[in-house]
Amino acid sequence: MSKPRLWITRKLSANTEARAQRDYEVVLNPSDTLSTADDIVRMSRDVDAIIPCHSEHFDHDTVSRLDARLKIVANHSVGVDHCNLDAFKQKGICVTNTPDVLSDATAEIAMLLLLGAARRAAEGDAMVRSGSWDTWSPSFMVGTQVSGKRIGIVGMGRVGQVMAKRARGFDMQVHYHSRTQLQPEQEQGATYHANLESLLQNADFLSLHCPATEHTKGLINAETLALLPDGAILVNTARGALIDEAALLHAIDSGKLAAAGLDCFVTEPGGNPSFAAHNNIMMLPHIGSATFETRDAMGFRALDNLDAFFAGKQPIDRLV
Ligand code: DGY
Repeated sequence: MSKPRLWITRKLSANTEARAQRDYEVVLNPSDTLSTADDIVRMSRDVDAIIPCHSEHFDHDTVSRLDARLKIVANHSVGVDHCNLDAFKQKGICVTNTPDVLSDATAEIAMLLLLGAARRAAEGDAMVRSGSWDTWSPSFMVGTQVSGKRIGIVGMGRVGQVMAKRARGFDMQVHYHSRTQLQPEQEQGATYHANLESLLQNADFLSLHCPATEHTKGLINAETLALLPDGAILVNTARGALIDEAALLHAIDSGKLAAAGLDCFVTEPGGNPSFAAHNNIMMLPHIGSATFETRDAMGFRALDNLDAFFAGKQPIDRLV
């Protein structure tokens, strides 16, 4: 029997590509170029499966134009806000994602941003690097202490729970808001807030770990930022769309927020150029899951989903 034909839209880990080539007839993208909607539609005539990343956009129009040959889109990402799932459902194309395997790596980046924003890491690094470090005194580069503070976690799913564990390692008090309250053994002493407003009032640090959906887009805006304690610190490793960036900038300018740590932006790649003038905003280019270990794990998880699908079984991460 001939192997299913698979298009991998971006350059994935060498181990992932080798396994894919062993089991599928694969179209790779060694130059790692970005595909347009027209590229995606054209390729759908030639393959049975696609492994895309969050950089490929499957909006309603694109999905409606996909060829009937394409049977499954096995995302190499946990987030699926780049996919119109309703359109996929109408079209009868299976969609999967890669939960679990990137929780540790993403929580590490969230913790890095939290610590870096609190202790002025980006500013300090830039100062030493540029040769402009020319003084020291007890009042120099004073930041916010992390230990003993309250962290508010929005979205207590897999990444949120790992973040809570890391925060406990820094003696932080964990508060969270999620659609549903966790069982006591999962909560590990964390305080549940049934509404976001209540969480915000108790968050010296706020870390976002929920998906970007119609309900959560712009969740952090002028009104919600105003509820945070003065001098709070905001961390976002989830999706840029969760934050109204103009409101964030205003909160930084006014001193309402002491600092922010961002791995995600409304516009990606690129970020928000207005943030660059603020050395109390620490920024990274959407690298939450970018470790060698996690890239392999994400690739393998996407391939596990494909293997199950083509074996006539239910992929464990089937969303549609
Ligand atoms: C994810 O998996 O959603 C990460 O943001 C990387 O795409």
